[in-house]
Amino acid sequence: MSLMNRQLLLKTRPEGLVSLDNFDLRETPVAELADGQALVRVLYLSMDPTNRVWMSDIPQYMPPVAIGEVMRGLGIGRVVASRSKHYEAGDLVQGLAGWQDYALIDETKMGYWVKLPPKPPVELPTLLGACGFSGITAYYGLTDIAPVEAGETLVVSAAAGSVGSIAGQIGKLRGARVVGIAGGAEKCRHLVDDLGFDAAVDYKADDFKQKLAAATPDGVHVNFENVGGPVMRAVLSRMVNGGRVALCGLIANYAGGSKASDDYSVIIIKRLTVRGFLAFDYKDQPRAVHDLVSWVVSGKIKAGETVAHGLENAPLVLNRLFDGSHTGKLVLKVAEEA
Ligand SMILES: NC(=O)c1ccc[n+]([C@@H]2O[C@H](COP(=O)([O-])OP(=O)(O)OC[C@H]3O[C@@H](n4cnc5c(N)ncnc54)[C@H](OP(=O)(O)O)[C@@H]3O)[C@@H](O)[C@H]2O)c1
Repeated sequence: MSLMNRQLLLKTRPEGLVSLDNFDLRETPVAELADGQALVRVLYLSMDPTNRVWMSDIPQYMPPVAIGEVMRGLGIGRVVASRSKHYEAGDLVQGLAGWQDYALIDETKMGYWVKLPPKPPVELPTLLGACGFSGITAYYGLTDIAPVEAGETLVVSAAAGSVGSIAGQIGKLRGARVVGIAGGAEKCRHLVDDLGFDAAVDYKADDFKQKLAAATPDGVHVNFENVGGPVMRAVLSRMVNGGRVALCGLIANYAGGSKASDDYSVIIIKRLTVRGFLAFDYKDQPRAVHDLVSWVVSGKIKAGETVAHGLENAPLVLNRLFDGSHTGKLVLKVAEEA
């Protein structure tokens, strides 16, 4: 009996949050493998804010997903059949699997696949979060883009999320005073009590700006910025002269929300250095992964994930990044490990 592949194809471009109507769920038989190809059973998909950007026809760092195309997405899977000399059945792989049950690796086409160790030292969802792309992003943001030094104050926005929770903990390892910004009292409690942040401020509270000022009495030396909009404006107003901003993401904009500020005067007045970056560009990612894995395994950094289930739910699960109904890395479990 041939294998069936369910795929989510982009049907229409979402306005605001994503709806199931923006996708077609197609089920087709998996084709026979040609020479040089390997078939991957997708196990986990990474739910990333950039998925929402890829759905929009706007300037971005990769081409937008075309209408009718399988939704692009990073994932982890197991090779189940191979006619490639580079892969064999049983290999654990990570790459742009797409929102589908089975992905094809084709040696003749450029891919983004990497082989993972046969017995990873951490759980698979952690390989998409703290020890994967999120961790790598936090790592280079704070060691290369805006290296934070001992005794400085670091403010991290979307701090209870995947990149932010690791960025804050790396800041603590480097000896900084770390203040997180997150939505709601429970996330703020989690940052301080569970992850060791020095303080956390709820950006949804009426007294957000006053609480941020109270939490940053010496000003802000480094801002690891994940959000943009009013949250970023509030942090910039607290920066010291000569402060540095690692501009990692602007999630407040992605689903059509508030725009990033077009008033750059604060950057001049405070002589700020604002550096945008893509983790993607770093070629020595294995070095970052090595450090991240050792920190997680030794307990110096706590990894956390929220695991949702079911390929068919991917569009709605993605929205949890925008309503904040998750902590740590949001992943979608597509299949059980055989
Ligand atoms: N530059 C790079 O290479 C790179 C790589 C990966 C990710 N990123 C960026 O890093 C950021 C975080 O990504 P992630 O994967 O770690 O996601 P995440 O933080 O796990 O999830 C997003 C979080 O953002 C918060 N949020 C959503 N809308 C908001 C708004 N309007 N105002 C304030 N907070 C809001 C929510 O937390 P609350 O409950 O606290 O609201 C939500 O949990 C994103 O901007 C992403 O684009 C950049």
